Amino acid sequence: MPINFNAPENRHTYLGREVQQEWFDLMQKLVDPHDKEIADIGCGGGIYSLAWQKMGAKKVTCVDFSQQMLADAAENTQSLPNIIIKQGNALCTGLPDSCQDIVFERALIHHISQENRNSCFAEAHRLLRSGGVYILQDRTLQDIQRPGSPEHIRGYIFDIYPHLQYFENQRRPDDNIEVIDGLQSVGFKQVKVFSLLEKRTTYKNFLQLAADFQARKGRSILHELSDEEIAHLIRHIEKSLGAETDIVEKDFWTIWTGIK
Ligand SMILES: C[S@@+](CC[C@H](N)C(=O)[O-])C[C@H]1O[C@@H](n2cnc3c(N)ncnc32)[C@H](O)[C@@H]1O
Repeated sequence: MPINFNAPENRHTYLGREVQQEWFDLMQKLVDPHDKEIADIGCGGGIYSLAWQKMGAKKVTCVDFSQQMLADAAENTQSLPNIIIKQGNALCTGLPDSCQDIVFERALIHHISQENRNSCFAEAHRLLRSGGVYILQDRTLQDIQRPGSPEHIRGYIFDIYPHLQYFENQRRPDDNIEVIDGLQSVGFKQVKVFSLLEKRTTYKNFLQLAADFQARKGRSILHELSDEEIAHLIRHIEKSLGAETDIVEKDFWTIWTGIK
């Protein structure tokens, strides 16, 4: 069952997370956001929209198809005159042609079916001015299949629930080639691929981690599991981590860029 981004209980899901220095460092290496117009599509709570604004963007347009998420984005970015909130679908945003210097989409494309992905890429291409940069950030099958470790805690999920791979197989891009081909087919040039290991959270101790995993039900692959299954997963993680403290959870990401 796909996540319902419009469900009121999923409000605040993509709020309250801090953008990490490694993300800022990579983005600064990829583009100069200063004085640029940037669309953050599938913006969720606008965490990264705000990050672009802090990096000196002239204007950031936050686009999402969910009113709940846009309400979060509005709350998170309030009183900033150069942040615009717009409801729209990534396949057809309703924004004018050639109006952006950068289109950014983080953790969006695994929510878009494979047959619609090229339409999503084509829409980003339409929005960009000539020379504009498309930045896609998502986790591929290869990223999520890394084994469980104190660093890659989500890897423990597949240790004990390998059947959830099926669910991920349906939605995750399989490898870089699939996305590269898609980007090139809609007209992007100089397509490049980067990796990013991005800190997600630091847990002071295991109890904090367990509480967070319980709260993730409803907004991650964990919504496929029953409460008992989640409890079993948490016990498995506890056994694997032992008495470790200051656990730093990280995510492996793939970043694709293309130039219009
Ligand atoms: C996993 S969240 C990522 C939020 C944000 N980009 C971040 O990284 O914190 C995915 C977001 O994409 C939005 N979304 C999913 N499919 C969409 C579509 N077809 N058009 C616009 N937004 C979409 C959801 O509502 C949700 O806010």
